[in-house]
Amino acid sequence: MAKPLTTSTRTGRTVTRTGTATNQADMMAEPRRHLLDLDDLAASEIEGLLNSAEGMREIAGRDIRKTPALRGKTIITLFFENSTRTRVSFEQAGKILGADVINVTASASSVSKGESLLNTVKTLQAMQIDALVVRHPHSGAPYFIANHTDAAVINAGDGTHAHPTQALLDLFTVRKHIGDLAGKKIAIVGDILYSRVARSDIIAFQKMGAEVVVSCPNTLLPDEWEPGSTLGDETGFGGLQLARTVDEAVEGADVVMALRIQQERQDAGHLPSLREYSERWGINARRMAMAKEGALLMHPGPMNEGVEIASDVAHGAQSVIEEQVRNGVAVRMAVLYALCAPGRSSRNGAGNEK
Ligand code: CP
Repeated sequence: MAKPLTTSTRTGRTVTRTGTATNQADMMAEPRRHLLDLDDLAASEIEGLLNSAEGMREIAGRDIRKTPALRGKTIITLFFENSTRTRVSFEQAGKILGADVINVTASASSVSKGESLLNTVKTLQAMQIDALVVRHPHSGAPYFIANHTDAAVINAGDGTHAHPTQALLDLFTVRKHIGDLAGKKIAIVGDILYSRVARSDIIAFQKMGAEVVVSCPNTLLPDEWEPGSTLGDETGFGGLQLARTVDEAVEGADVVMALRIQQERQDAGHLPSLREYSERWGINARRMAMAKEGALLMHPGPMNEGVEIASDVAHGAQSVIEEQVRNGVAVRMAVLYALCAPGRSSRNGAGNEK
């Protein structure tokens, strides 16, 4: 893993961005084996995945949508945290592509009997798998797994670090509506400090040339990030604008994205009451009216309706929230195909027996 550029935070957590020119050169030199983060993907590689997802979306929309593209491949979803959208869409994506998909959840596996992450991975690898789709509460867990398996590893959300396929599906959804993202204003409102979606989305939208503005309570912003300022390149998020208020963030925005407020932050003293949060930072009809006419309203889900987003706008004409979920299948098909297509799999064979 590349040495991170770090921005320390008041909680001791670090907001990191690891992309380097070396990574990009490496990526171009040999096919990608894993998808762990977006920071080491060049814009052209992201474009390639989004273009592939266009074709996958057409396949996923057919009456009979089974293809043999990944026939004979075995994909395991290994989830140590709950999920609805990500897990189901990866399963659906793999099945549409003809792969065998096996779902493993920590609570129903030998992890609940004390088996370690390493032994869990070694056990699954012994069954000749092609891909591991991993969600884990600890940032970096997918990197650890990638170091101990021949299978392709896809990060389906690790701690507060990254959620690369969520960011890809968000890009894909916005691109379908407004085309080229260069110069478009993307307002992200909510838990910037702890949200893996925020970090991946900021990286993704910036790579595609968009102007990203964030807004949240000061307690949910890294310590040295000053509202009213624009971050420099040394932070790894150069050009990211930190709005003083939500109204300033959404003013003239092409896209407004609300992020889930983890209710436990309230107990940790990061938030005022949820009611006050909703009034001061919630996305509602008044705030959507300040955005550009026809602006898109997004949310990665799951939503706390009435807290970070008002129900009427969440289900209103500008909302593309369900479309985000639908596009998640096509984008995950594109990612699985890119990593597991015939000739790409590095599945361990009989030669690896010990
Ligand atoms: N957006 C997202 O990751 O949702 P799930 O937790 O339901 O997968």
